Amino acid sequence: MGDKDKKLTTNAGAPVVDNQNVMTAGPRGPQLLQDVWFLEKLGHFNREVIPERRMHAKGSGAFGTFTVTHNVTRYTRAKLFAQIGKTTELFARFTTVAGERGAADAERDIRGFAVKFYTEEGNWDLVGNNTPVFFHRDPLKFPDLNHAVKRDPRTNMRSAKNMWDFWTSLPEALHQITIVMSERGIPATYRHMHGFGSHTFSFINEQRERHWVKFHFVSQQGIRNLTDAEAEAMIGKDRESHQRDLFESLEKGDFPKWAIKVQIMPEGDTRKVSYNPFDLTKVWPHKDYPLMDVGTMELNRNPANFFADVEQSAFNPANVPPGIGFSPDRMLQGRLFAYGDAQRYRLGVNHHLIPVNAPRCPAHSFHRDGAMRVDGNHGGTLSYEPNSGGEWLEQPEFREPALSLDGAADHWSHREDTDYYSQPAALFRLMNSAQQTALFGNTARAMGNIPREIKIRHIGNCYRADPAYGEGVAKALGIALCEALQ
Ligand code: HEM
Repeated sequence: MGDKDKKLTTNAGAPVVDNQNVMTAGPRGPQLLQDVWFLEKLGHFNREVIPERRMHAKGSGAFGTFTVTHNVTRYTRAKLFAQIGKTTELFARFTTVAGERGAADAERDIRGFAVKFYTEEGNWDLVGNNTPVFFHRDPLKFPDLNHAVKRDPRTNMRSAKNMWDFWTSLPEALHQITIVMSERGIPATYRHMHGFGSHTFSFINEQRERHWVKFHFVSQQGIRNLTDAEAEAMIGKDRESHQRDLFESLEKGDFPKWAIKVQIMPEGDTRKVSYNPFDLTKVWPHKDYPLMDVGTMELNRNPANFFADVEQSAFNPANVPPGIGFSPDRMLQGRLFAYGDAQRYRLGVNHHLIPVNAPRCPAHSFHRDGAMRVDGNHGGTLSYEPNSGGEWLEQPEFREPALSLDGAADHWSHREDTDYYSQPAALFRLMNSAQQTALFGNTARAMGNIPREIKIRHIGNCYRADPAYGEGVAKALGIALCEALQ
C-alpha cells in the first residue's frame, strides 16, 4: 500500500481496526495481550531513539549543489573538479559541538561544517568546522577535550571550570580559544559563517604529483554574529534559531551560497616553511599561500524527513575520491579511525546503505551481511577474492604517488614545537580595539567564577602572545596583571 492510501496498518501491512481503544475483556476489564497493534506500537516507540553523536549532536542539514567555477585540474584529478560548470550533488550538516541533541543553537561554541559530495568516483566527506584551527594537535587529547566541555560527572552540569582548566593547560589551544571567544564565537545563523576543512589534505593530479591543500568555504551571505547579550535573549525565546533560519530560508527559495577556495602548497615546501604545515593549531598565512577560487556550494533543498537524512547522516573524513588524499597531520590520521567506528556503533555496520550516505555511483566491496542489510546483499556475486569470476578487481591506476616518510617509531613529543603564540598574537593584532574589547569581555563572562589560578594561567598564555592581550583579559577579570605574572 502506498502512502496515498491513507489506511492505517501494522508494519506487516495488516489493517489496524482501532487506534483509540486497546482491547480489553469487557468495558472495564484488563487489557489483552493479543492486541498486537498495541504491542507493536509501544515496542517500536521504545526504540525510536538512536545514540546521538558523541559531539556535534545538535545540527541542521540540507541538500545542495557544488558547481565548478575555476580550473584546478593541474592540481587534482578528482572528477568533481573536471570542467568549469560541472555540478555535483551534496548534503551538508552544520552543528554546535558540545551541546546535546536538544541544546540551544545560539551557544558560544565552534560550529561543525560537514559536506558530503556525491561524486561519480565515490563520496567525498569534508568534515570541517567554522574555524581553520583546533584546540590541540594530537588525537589522543580528543576524548579529554570532550569530557572537559561536556557535563561534569558529578554535577551533571556543564562546567566552565573543567573547560578552562583543560584549555588553559594546553598552550597550543590559545589560537582556537581566541577565535571562540572573539566576536565570531556565536554565529547568528549557519548561513552567516565561513567553513574550513581545517586539516591539510592532498591533491593528486593526472601526472601523479602531490600538492598539499587546505579548503575554505566563504559565506556569500557575509558574516553575522551575536553578542553574548543577543544570544542570551535569542535562546530565551528560540532554542532552534539556526535550524529555523536555515529551514525557512530554503523553504522560501533564499538559497545560501559559499565560494569554495583552496590554498595550495607544493609538496617540496613541506620543510621550507617555518612552521609544521600539518599542525592543526596553525593556519597557512594567506600571503604565502593565497586563496584560489574553485567553485560554489549552494544549499537548495530541505530534507523531507529530519531523522532519515540529518540524524542518520554519517560523515567520515576517510571518504575521499581519487585525486584527494590525506596528509601526515596526526589529528587527521586519528579521525580516519574515529568516524567509521562511531558510525558502526551509532547507526550500524551497514550505515553506508542509508540513502543519505549511499554513494551515487556503483559500489562493489566484498563486505556482506550484518544488521539491516536491506539492499539485496549483492545477490549471488562472489564474496571472496581472488576468484575466477573477475569480481571485483582492484584499481591500481588510482594508487597515490609514494610519500617519503622517515624517522624511528616513538611517541615523538609535539611539544618540540613551542610556537604556541605567534599565530594567536597575529590574530589578536588584526582585531580593532572594539573587537579586542569584545574578546576580553567574552572571555571574562565565559570564565565566570572559575578558580583564580585557572584565570591566571590563561592571562599568562594571553600575555605570552601579546602583552596587551594578557592585560586586557586581566582587566576584564579584575585581576592585577602583576599578580597574574608573578
Ligand atoms: C563528529 C571524532 C576532531 C569536526 C565527530 C564524531 C566523532 C568525532 C566520533 C561523531 C561521528 C558520528 O557519530 O557520526 C573526532 C576525533 C577528533 C575530531 C577523534 C580528533 C582526533 C574534529 C575536527 C573537526 C571535527 C578537527 C573539524 C575540523 C566534526 C564534525 C562532526 C564531528 C563537523 C559532525 C559531523 C556530522 O555533522 O555528522 N567527531 N573529531 N572533528 N566532528 Fe570530529
